[in-house]
Amino acid sequence: MERTVCGPLFPPSHHSNPDRRDPKLIVDEQGRIVAVLLGRPEDPDWDYVVRQAFKAMRHARRRARAAGMWTAFSHRRGNYLALTTGVSFGGGQLRPGNLRNTRFFRRLIKRLLTNKYIRRLAGFQSSGFALYAPKLYRYYCLILKALFERQPGLVHNFTNSIFPAATFNCGPDAVTVEHLDFLNLSHGFCGITSGGCFDHTKGGHVHMRQWRLVIQCPSGSSLLIPSATVDHGNTPIQPGESRHSMTQYAAGGLFRWVTYGHQTAKDLLAQRDGKHKRAVFDGEPGSRWAWALDLFSKIDELDADRGGVRQRWTPLDVYILRRYLSC
Ligand SMILES: [Fe+2]
Repeated sequence: MERTVCGPLFPPSHHSNPDRRDPKLIVDEQGRIVAVLLGRPEDPDWDYVVRQAFKAMRHARRRARAAGMWTAFSHRRGNYLALTTGVSFGGGQLRPGNLRNTRFFRRLIKRLLTNKYIRRLAGFQSSGFALYAPKLYRYYCLILKALFERQPGLVHNFTNSIFPAATFNCGPDAVTVEHLDFLNLSHGFCGITSGGCFDHTKGGHVHMRQWRLVIQCPSGSSLLIPSATVDHGNTPIQPGESRHSMTQYAAGGLFRWVTYGHQTAKDLLAQRDGKHKRAVFDGEPGSRWAWALDLFSKIDELDADRGGVRQRWTPLDVYILRRYLSC
C-alpha cells in the first residue's frame, strides 16, 4: 500500500505550533482515506479538557490500587490499568452483550463515562470519524441501530459517539506493545486519544509497521486507524513520564451478527436455506471485501460522500435499510 501524508504527521505541540490543528490524512494508492490524524479541535480550552479527562482516569487507577484491585502487571498490550466497557461480541459470547466488569470496576467506569471531559474526547473521535469516513460511519449507524433496537438491554457508552465500546488506558505507562485488534471490525476505524505528561518527540509515538509510519502523538491529539488490519503500538516514554489513552472501537462480530439476521453464521447455516441466504448476504466471492474497501472515502469524493449521495449498497444493506431505517 502506498501512502501519502500531507505535510508533517502531527503538530509538534500545541504550544510550539498553535496554528497547526489541521488533520492529516493517510491515503492508499487509490486515494482512499485509510487513517486520519485528527490532531485536536479548534478549541482554546482543549488542553484543559484533556487534562481533566486524564486526571479522571488517573484517579480511577489510584482508587483501584488503593482498594487492592489493581497492581502493576503486564497483559498482552503493556503495563497499565485498562478498563474496557460497552457492547461487544466475541471471545466466547453467545450473542452481542454488554462487556462485564466486577461491581468495583463498574463504579469506576460509570464515573468515567459520565465525566463531561471524557465525553468530549469521545465526541471528538466520533465526529472525526463522521467527517473523514462518512460512508463507513453511515454503515456503523445502520448496523448498530438495528442491533440496539433488537436488543434494548444493550447500553451505549456515550450519546455523542457512534462507537459501541471503549477502553480507558489509565496509565501510569499506557504504552502498548505492537498488536492487532483482531476482534475489531476488519474494515473499521479505532479512535485513539493520548494524554499525560511526556515528551512526544522522544516517546509515545504511534507506530504502524506495515505502513512504515511512526507518528508523534502529543497529549490531547487524536487519530483514527484501522486497528484490525494494521499492526500498531507505541514507542516507550522516558523514565518518570506518564501516558494515558482512550480508545473507541467496534467488534466485527456485531456486524456479522446483524448481517446474518441477528444470529451467528453457524446458526444461519444450520437452517435449511441457510447456505443460500449466506451467499446472498456475502455476495460473489471476493465482492464483500471490495465493497468494504469502497466504504472508505476518497479525498476527491469526500464532499459528495458527506452528503450521503454516493452510497453503494449490497442486497444485504438494502435489506437492512428497508427493514430498519423505516422504523
Ligand atoms: Fe490497538
